[in-house]
Amino acid sequence: MRQSDAAEVLAIYQAGLDTGQASFETTAPSWEGFSASRLPHLRYVAVDADSGEVLGWVAGSAVSSRPVYAGVVEHSIYVHPGCQAHGIGRALLSAFIAAAEDAGVWTIQSGVFPENAASLSLHQALGFRVVGTRERVGRHHGLWRDVLMIERRSAVAGT
Ligand SMILES: CC(C)(COP(=O)(O)OP(=O)(O)OC[C@H]1O[C@@H](n2cnc3c(N)ncnc32)[C@H](O)[C@@H]1OP(=O)(O)O)[C@@H](O)C(=O)NCCC(=O)NCCS
Repeated sequence: MRQSDAAEVLAIYQAGLDTGQASFETTAPSWEGFSASRLPHLRYVAVDADSGEVLGWVAGSAVSSRPVYAGVVEHSIYVHPGCQAHGIGRALLSAFIAAAEDAGVWTIQSGVFPENAASLSLHQALGFRVVGTRERVGRHHGLWRDVLMIERRSAVAGT
């Protein structure tokens, strides 16, 4: 993911937020805000080989500055609404997991709304487990919503 991808990355992000099932956030941040909170070595785009159009992205953030959690990251993944269910999310997340493990990350975590069947299914297919449910943990468009905490513990990094 490069700065030149910014507009497409943020448009895909906004489209995901507009579904109401991707995040508590409702508005994509500025590129500066987005970029500042994402790890430079763990951010990727999927690009159409012919047109060069960005089809989706995945990016990780540090969860803590404490050394003990140096190998724990949180991630987000968003695929263009016109390209979903074609394996792009799976390809992005697989690449992200491999890159994270190469970089010594042992745990990848995220929060998912229980209603987000596509995200849950994708993550479980790639080795994430549901750690638990945070009940009515935040309000979204006036509704209190649960969040499933998911994580993937590497079998090769941090062993
Ligand atoms: C969740 C998301 C990233 C999945 O990406 P995708 O490219 O559509 O997913 P893929 O085509 O790679 O599918 C991978 C797996 O996810 C599951 N899946 C995909 N779409 C699904 C759907 N609509 N319902 C149920 N499962 C689905 C399937 O298990 C699929 O496995 P398969 O390849 O064996 O069929 C994408 O739908 C998206 O961007 N959604 C909006 C933003 C969002 O919610 N992001 C996640 C925030 S936690």
